[in-house]
Amino acid sequence: MSAYPSAAASGQFKIGDITVNRLGFGAMRITGKGIWGEPADPKAARETLKRVPELGINLIDTADSYGPYVSEDLIRETLHPYKNLLIATKGGLTRHGPDIWRPLGRPEYLRQCVLMSLRRLGVERIDLWQLHRIDGAVPREEQFGVIAAMRKEGLIRHVGLSEVGVDDIVAAQKHFPVVTVQNQYNLVDRKSEAVLEYCEKHNIGFIPWAPLAAGNLTRPGSALTETARQLKATPGQVALAWMLKRSKVILPIPGTANVDHLIENVAGAGIHLSDEAFAALDKQGRKG
Ligand SMILES: NC(=O)c1ccc[n+]([C@@H]2O[C@H](COP(=O)([O-])OP(=O)(O)OC[C@H]3O[C@@H](n4cnc5c(N)ncnc54)[C@H](OP(=O)(O)O)[C@@H]3O)[C@@H](O)[C@H]2O)c1
Repeated sequence: MSAYPSAAASGQFKIGDITVNRLGFGAMRITGKGIWGEPADPKAARETLKRVPELGINLIDTADSYGPYVSEDLIRETLHPYKNLLIATKGGLTRHGPDIWRPLGRPEYLRQCVLMSLRRLGVERIDLWQLHRIDGAVPREEQFGVIAAMRKEGLIRHVGLSEVGVDDIVAAQKHFPVVTVQNQYNLVDRKSEAVLEYCEKHNIGFIPWAPLAAGNLTRPGSALTETARQLKATPGQVALAWMLKRSKVILPIPGTANVDHLIENVAGAGIHLSDEAFAALDKQGRKG
């Protein structure tokens, strides 16, 4: 038996026709400050990526805009050829410097995003391509239309959306099946409850971004500290265990460029929360 934890303990979910372990990995943090340029410690970033499949993770979330390109390039360099690994990428955001993100949803740009991600990732078809943002300056039907065309052409296997409302999902489903929705969500950020409920009802994977509240939930002093002490776990692990128990369609993708943090997060998948502990955290979390 391995001395290391496995993401298999999180249970499984089918994204379209691809079964993944529910606990995935977010590859935004393997880039520079402001998600711009090379990571501060490239060796640690590469080592972290190498450990991802070894720990049973088979869902990696990235985007062309992470770096930009740095995250996709590192994934290819470190993990290609991919074995039993779903690389989910995104397009539709342009970058104008550290921490600056601007949507661009013109059909010809979305097509370029997909074609370039295919090249960078070294694949003939993207298993899960997510529209990073719906561009408010372009009719959403035009954005969905070109995505549907690329799916028909075989460039994309499955389609996901990011930061959307129920109305957007319903509109997109007229063009293609929406298999995942990636919205910001964690114990203390519950703005997307209605979207999560819609996903649950329709068996759509819900990928919460910032599942650790960008690291805040890993620190002592939050609502999680006492439960973590009782379970001999860390607050971040309890945050992930809470999320996995919240809904069977939730696929958390905690992000890190640190191997120890990665192992700690994966171990969170094996932590059992009682119904009482879950309910108490839920109540505290809803207060924010
Ligand atoms: N769709 C969207 O618009 C969108 C937006 C943002 C993010 N995302 C995706 O969601 C993923 C997750 O979001 P996120 O990375 O912003 O936030 P997160 O997963 O909530 O937190 C990541 C932060 O927490 C730290 N961390 C992780 N594990 C830790 C641990 N065990 N102990 C202490 N610190 C820990 C990381 O720093 P260290 O590197 O030091 O561990 C990093 O700064 C991203 O990687 C990306 O793939 C999507």
